[in-house]
Amino acid sequence: MDVFHIEGPVRLSGSVRINGSKNASLPVMAATILAGGKSVLSAVPHLSDISVCSELLVELGCEVSREQNGDLCIDSSVIDNPVGDYEIVRRMRASICILGPLLARCGRAEVSMPGGCAIGYRPIDIHIRGLRELGAEIHIKNGYIIAEARNGLRGREIFMGGPFGSTVLGTANVLMAATLAKGKTIIESAACEPEIADLANCLNKMGAKITGIGSPRLVIEGVRQLNPVEFKVIPDRIEAGTFMVAAAITAGQLHLNNCQLDDMMAVVDKLRGIGITIEPDGDGCVVAGDGRLKPADITTQPYPGFPTDLQAQFMALLSLAEGNSIIIEKIFPDRFMHVAELSRMAANLRKEGPTIIVAGVKKLMAAPVMASDLRASAALVLAGLAAEGTTTINRVYHIDRGYEKIEERLNPVGAKIVRESV
Ligand code: EPU
Repeated sequence: MDVFHIEGPVRLSGSVRINGSKNASLPVMAATILAGGKSVLSAVPHLSDISVCSELLVELGCEVSREQNGDLCIDSSVIDNPVGDYEIVRRMRASICILGPLLARCGRAEVSMPGGCAIGYRPIDIHIRGLRELGAEIHIKNGYIIAEARNGLRGREIFMGGPFGSTVLGTANVLMAATLAKGKTIIESAACEPEIADLANCLNKMGAKITGIGSPRLVIEGVRQLNPVEFKVIPDRIEAGTFMVAAAITAGQLHLNNCQLDDMMAVVDKLRGIGITIEPDGDGCVVAGDGRLKPADITTQPYPGFPTDLQAQFMALLSLAEGNSIIIEKIFPDRFMHVAELSRMAANLRKEGPTIIVAGVKKLMAAPVMASDLRASAALVLAGLAAEGTTTINRVYHIDRGYEKIEERLNPVGAKIVRESV
């Protein structure tokens, strides 16, 4: 298991290129199941979650390889084992997004129920409800979701809202299944996240007929078959947001290339309110801070609201603001594993249910801390850049799930991060 030693405080300065989006790549990889033949995906990042997804596709019968230029080739001509095994699914919850495409392609699927998760209880009832509406028979046996649609799927009007709003992967699952259903499907209260729009664009390129992309009402005219595709995934808005906070928390200046500000309005708006300058530049932007941070109130919401995947990183930032901030988590009310760790670094945080009151402090102090989930770990890296002394972060494999060699990208712009294998 690797450990990071991060020496701080540092001031970051320079250029960073934002990679392709992890959360766009995973459903797009699953979408290749829908068509026989070889698809070529570009800008898919080199992350452990992507490797797990590749392993999963290979188990189903696909051939998966990386070209020298980095493109990911998936040949899904043969799918002879429509089973998502527990040993793989337990390593990555997003594996659930093979359920819809397998059902549509093979008429049946067995996928392990995802288990517990560091960010809280994450049911999949809406995925199942949506697929049942399309005519699938679904039951749970020995920890597996067994789904069957012997006579194919039928288009329907489906409402997909839940207690916390829309569901990203639930929308992905039902959307993918509906592309091959007989007739018209309407998904109402669909997730509007850019990653879902990217998936829909990819599906249309494969021959699907989807309209309403980017809106909460997706209309899908079922087609008989889809074709393999060449597709480039969008830049990672969460990675971009994390690097923006890195510039802000170190009073530095970063030029982010390959960053779509249009997908990040809520984040950019908050950062500007905190006192950070963000100017569009080329295919990205320049982000700069002067060390003075104003407090902010943040509520996480489905897109286009403020993303839960940047909540932890902003908590690290607001720990150093001049005054009190409030952070309310409305997507995953228990996504607060980083609170105790940031407190070990002298952040002043008080938890009241799904709300954290952040009383700004003058300095963060280095400490040994534990990475718990992907975004919580990113927050600890950011805190480590600003804290005085050497912060040691254990279990950095959590960071590697979503940030490609983060130390090799932060060190050239002024960070002092050493990875040690222990
Ligand atoms: N929900 C239900 N029932 C369901 C599905 C979801 O009640 O059947 C609830 C969840 O418990 C949660 C809310 O709906 O309260 C939203 O969950 P959603 O289904 O949208 O989450 P997800 O699709 O499982 C994706 C991302 C997460 C990101 C969330 C929210 C991927 C691979 N994962 O998860 O990303 O936090 O959407 O935006 O796209 C991450 O990258 O670190 C990460 C966790």
